[in-house]
Amino acid sequence: MASSLTNSHASSQYGENPVKKGEIRHNEMGSEVVEGYTCKPKDYDPNKAIMHYKTLLLLCDDERCGKAGKDNRAAHLREMIKEMGLSKGKNRIKISRTGCYGACRYRQVCQVTENTQANGNPKNNAIWLKHTHQFKDEQWREIFKLLSEDETLKDVLDEENFIAMKVYE
Ligand code: FES
Repeated sequence: MASSLTNSHASSQYGENPVKKGEIRHNEMGSEVVEGYTCKPKDYDPNKAIMHYKTLLLLCDDERCGKAGKDNRAAHLREMIKEMGLSKGKNRIKISRTGCYGACRYRQVCQVTENTQANGNPKNNAIWLKHTHQFKDEQWREIFKLLSEDETLKDVLDEENFIAMKVYE
């Protein structure tokens, strides 16, 4: 399946698919987007609530992880999430890029965080996935499905996918 790499979240004036002159487009929060931008709302409200998410995936895009992953992996994953109907609503999965975690040997590192203030699964919170640049789209789809269905990743995925963390008693 061909996948568009359109990044609807980028706010850069020269993003991949900025709004053209005369075009009317709304971002995922329902706000009309400023011409020349891909996400920036016309009616800026500094107090507007941020969009709900159930799961936030923090994908390292710094030097070593970024080189290991293919170009624009975050945008590619966002597109997959959108296709699966998980880019909005109660089970929304959000992807954000991060800087180096100091765990480059596990590149491309991805931290799973769950919105435990709302409907996130605490057992998936603070889970670290390693070598995600080697994941195929099918594997990502499985992970997104598991997260949306509130399955506990460590109960389902192979141990080799996770970064162990030292735990103090
Ligand atoms: S560059 Fe990703 S953990 Fe260092």
